[in-house]
Amino acid sequence: MPEIILPEVEMNIYSPKSPAEATLVENYVCTAESSPNIIRHLTFDVSGTGLEGKFKVGQSIGVLPPGADEKGKAHKLRLYSVSSPEKGEGGKKHLVSTTVKRANEEVDGTFYLGVCSNYLCNLKLGDKLKVTGPSGRRYLLPVNKEEFNYVFFATGTGIAPFRGMIMELFEAGITNEVALVFGCPYRTDLIYPKFLNEMEEKHENFHYIKMISREDRRDDGSKYYVQTAIEDRPDILDPILSKENTLIYICGMKGMESGIYHNLAKRGHMGYLRLKGQPESDDPNQWSWEEVKKMLKPSERTFEEVY
Ligand code: FAD
Ligand code: A2P
Repeated sequence: MPEIILPEVEMNIYSPKSPAEATLVENYVCTAESSPNIIRHLTFDVSGTGLEGKFKVGQSIGVLPPGADEKGKAHKLRLYSVSSPEKGEGGKKHLVSTTVKRANEEVDGTFYLGVCSNYLCNLKLGDKLKVTGPSGRRYLLPVNKEEFNYVFFATGTGIAPFRGMIMELFEAGITNEVALVFGCPYRTDLIYPKFLNEMEEKHENFHYIKMISREDRRDDGSKYYVQTAIEDRPDILDPILSKENTLIYICGMKGMESGIYHNLAKRGHMGYLRLKGQPESDDPNQWSWEEVKKMLKPSERTFEEVY
């Protein structure tokens, strides 16, 4: 196993007290088809600020939405994962992209609009916004990135960092294996499908596994989730996960990580995990959900960003 050398990063060049001003230069729907799950690709121009060329993929950019909450307090900062590669969107270091889902929810008959995500998705080209960052120190590709294989697990906008990482790995000419396991409700919700399908066509060592949760059921009646890919697609994943120089990255909804860890343990891929405490049984199939959540933690080969 090669040493995992993480790059030095600059953090918080701009804070909420003194944010930078960026200009929106791209804003388009980036799902397969239009669907109620509205997800947009946004690009910010940070020219003339200290943020040019400073974001590494895996880091996040902060956005300060204008206005105040119902108590009159200024809205808090929200973080968004950078989805452009380190050299910038389209190779331009002053352009930083992200992938935003309109966070809307109905609770007990009342419809709530997410403040910052809707603000961002409604921005027009040329609009100015206040941004902070970079944020994040560990969720990064190693400097020696070509020495590893990768399995990326994403649900929804968790795809954001992997778009940039996949661009970087293949531009660097990686010859090792890269698998992306992406989970979403319907086929219409696939994010960046054109880019990912093209990458799969072009590169034999890139594997794109789609886990669609609400169209079909697994044989036991359960849903297809990113973690079930470990059991459902062993043909692709087992050979990659069995290599000692493979790293796992997880991004997306909070809670998905425990299911991934449990299924890794069930298939004997313990190198990605650290056991905190001693489970009652030696057999991972016997572990309760409480044991899984309490005891299965990521090892140094596993990177997670869940929100
Ligand atoms: P908020 O206004 O904060 O509301 C949150 C949710 O609560 C919404 O669904 C809203 O409908 C609901 N709600 C509001 N008021 C109520 C109420 N009174 N009762 C019940 N429900 C209510 N998001 C992305 O889209 N893309 C990314 O790449 C991304 N990366 C992230 C990276 C990190 C490290 C972190 C921590 C978060 C990331 N997020 C990302 C999430 C993002 O930061 C925001 O949390 C998200 O956009 C929702 O913010 P909002 O202001 O739109 O919603
Ligand atoms: P479902 O909602 O059908 O249960 P989105 O961000 O667009 O909502 O997509 C999130 C995807 O992750 C959906 O397919 C959702 O399935 C799925 N999902 C929900 N809960 C989990 C979980 N605990 N682990 C992994 N995937 C999950």
